[in-house]
Amino acid sequence: MTSIKDGWTAKDIPRQDGRVFVVTGANSGLGFSTARELARHGATVVLAVRNADKGRQAIKQIKDEVPAADVDQRALDLADLDSVRAFAATVPTVHGLVNNAGVMMPPRTLTKQGFELQFGANHLGHFALTGLLLPALRAAGGSGGVDARVVTVSSGLHRGGSIHFDDLDGARAYSPTGFYSQSKFANVLFGLELDRRLRAAGEPIRSLLAHPGYAATNLQLSGPTGMMKLGMRIGNALIAQSADMGALDQLYAATDPGAESGEFIGPRRMREQRGTPTVVQPDPNATDPELARRLWELSEEMTGVHFDFAPAVGTASGK
Ligand SMILES: NC(=O)c1ccc[n+]([C@@H]2O[C@H](COP(=O)([O-])OP(=O)(O)OC[C@H]3O[C@@H](n4cnc5c(N)ncnc54)[C@H](OP(=O)(O)O)[C@@H]3O)[C@@H](O)[C@H]2O)c1
Repeated sequence: MTSIKDGWTAKDIPRQDGRVFVVTGANSGLGFSTARELARHGATVVLAVRNADKGRQAIKQIKDEVPAADVDQRALDLADLDSVRAFAATVPTVHGLVNNAGVMMPPRTLTKQGFELQFGANHLGHFALTGLLLPALRAAGGSGGVDARVVTVSSGLHRGGSIHFDDLDGARAYSPTGFYSQSKFANVLFGLELDRRLRAAGEPIRSLLAHPGYAATNLQLSGPTGMMKLGMRIGNALIAQSADMGALDQLYAATDPGAESGEFIGPRRMREQRGTPTVVQPDPNATDPELARRLWELSEEMTGVHFDFAPAVGTASGK
């Protein structure tokens, strides 16, 4: 297990020149901070965003701060698998995929393909994106020993989560918090299973997980409604750390040479609510390989995306 120095910050990110990153949800919060710091350290960054105006604004803000930033935006709506496919087709090589975008605790909503939104966008959208980008990750990882990696952003709220296999779309019993936990639990099952499958195939691509603790972003204000939203507004003002602090965990996972595949990175203080990055442990239920296999197969069926782990043979196929 990696030992991360106490007090790791964005200043510790090694130079990333020549590396291409895709950051989903990069126009806001943790994704924005991640894209900006990657660009500051020399990476080429594709901001994968669903709203072009917000993307333009984010690029302007990054360039105001980092004039040499090599950043661009492309359209990606994780709640629409057609959009995920169209986006993936534009990316031939990627050294780092940061599966960051997310929606939290909205009233029950369905994706374009009819899946519950939190499971559909937070998990299925990223599952499909990763499978479709596997050849692009392989293309990057194969060159001169440069490693490629996937970082999937979960949450402390994955703890106590479960997969409602008999009511995945919440048609019978939906709760905004329960279905957020389900989606973040699915992120962990996915990230760990991806690590196992990459290792088994001998693929030199790492899969890591990260969570930010509690960081004040748009997340708490865009999904929840009513009293929940009010409570979160107060929490953001009084308890949360900044988005820049929250982004450190995923930045470490995405860039540090010592970060190992299968590791979960989160804040080291206040029961993982705040602080600089350290290695944290997932909920034991999220380490169950049989549960992960069941979710993987279901996700393949639901998205039509099948990962092809055989090196240099082919690509993930969309059925
Ligand atoms: N902040 C925290 O305390 C906290 C705690 C635990 C985990 N997390 C996780 O951290 C990640 C980043 O969240 P954040 O806190 O930075 O929130 P945020 O500021 O609301 O950013 C979320 C980003 O995801 C994008 N997004 C939402 N639905 C999308 C979709 N269907 N397709 C494409 N992009 C979509 C949003 O786009 P728009 O701007 O267009 O809405 C936004 O860019 C999430 O996965 C979240 O679950 C956050």
